[in-house]
Amino acid sequence: MFTNPKLINNGRGFASISEAAKYLENHFIDEFGRLHNTPINRGPARYQQRKIAKFDFASQLAKGSILFIGEGNLSFCLSLAKHPRINPFKLTATTFESKNNLSELAKDNALKLKSLGTNVTHGVNASKLHTTFGHNFFDTIVFQFPHTGSREPINGHHPNFVLIRNFLKSAAHQLSSDGKVIITAVDSPHYRGAFQFEKAAKAAGFLPPKEYSFEPSAFPGYTHTMTNEDDSALESHDHFTTWVFELPA
Ligand SMILES: C[S@@+](CC[C@H](N)C(=O)[O-])C[C@H]1O[C@@H](n2cnc3c(N)ncnc32)[C@H](O)[C@@H]1O
Repeated sequence: MFTNPKLINNGRGFASISEAAKYLENHFIDEFGRLHNTPINRGPARYQQRKIAKFDFASQLAKGSILFIGEGNLSFCLSLAKHPRINPFKLTATTFESKNNLSELAKDNALKLKSLGTNVTHGVNASKLHTTFGHNFFDTIVFQFPHTGSREPINGHHPNFVLIRNFLKSAAHQLSSDGKVIITAVDSPHYRGAFQFEKAAKAAGFLPPKEYSFEPSAFPGYTHTMTNEDDSALESHDHFTTWVFELPA
């Protein structure tokens, strides 16, 4: 149940700090400024998450060259290519799918990106970036919602852990000094268990990643693609995290 925050305590204010503290034991204001008539630990599940800052994609991508991996329908890269602070000529967008296997939306977005001056390349494997990019280096490498589409263990590991570990190993060789690798995923115990970002970072020589909250609606036109019709749909989740990886100095 939401209430206009201006009506907090019926506009009367509080006689003392302890009165205000008591009031807040039974109410909380969410990130959209809405007042809830419930304590935070009894609020809707999406508001019970710990509060962490959002990653500032525009500031990070405004500096230097950026490589997007596994872009699916290319709508995330296209959204950023249109951002006023980002130079589309500095972006390279890639899909895992070959040109012949792109969806109609991906084909359309590829044309839009090219018309803005963005380099678009298809058939790029996150685990073998050197085969496409050789000795080209990037200041930022982004992989949004990586997902293999498989649940078949690989040598006893979850396939999504193997994808992330091998992607990080590969990305480490394509990063400029002080470069960053950015990965966003659904944040839930299931996904944390599948991806094991800290373990993958260690195996690939990165520092433990920093975590930021992610809100898909902050990127106009971004329509998330699923690897297949499984649990990678954003609609069925409401908490997302961006993990930011850096190599030791
Ligand atoms: C859940 S979709 C997300 C697509 C897009 N990044 C987005 O945010 O909408 C996962 C993507 O990972 C890609 N992918 C899976 N394995 C990959 C690999 N080895 N290399 C590059 N991309 C891969 C798939 O092709 C798919 O587009």
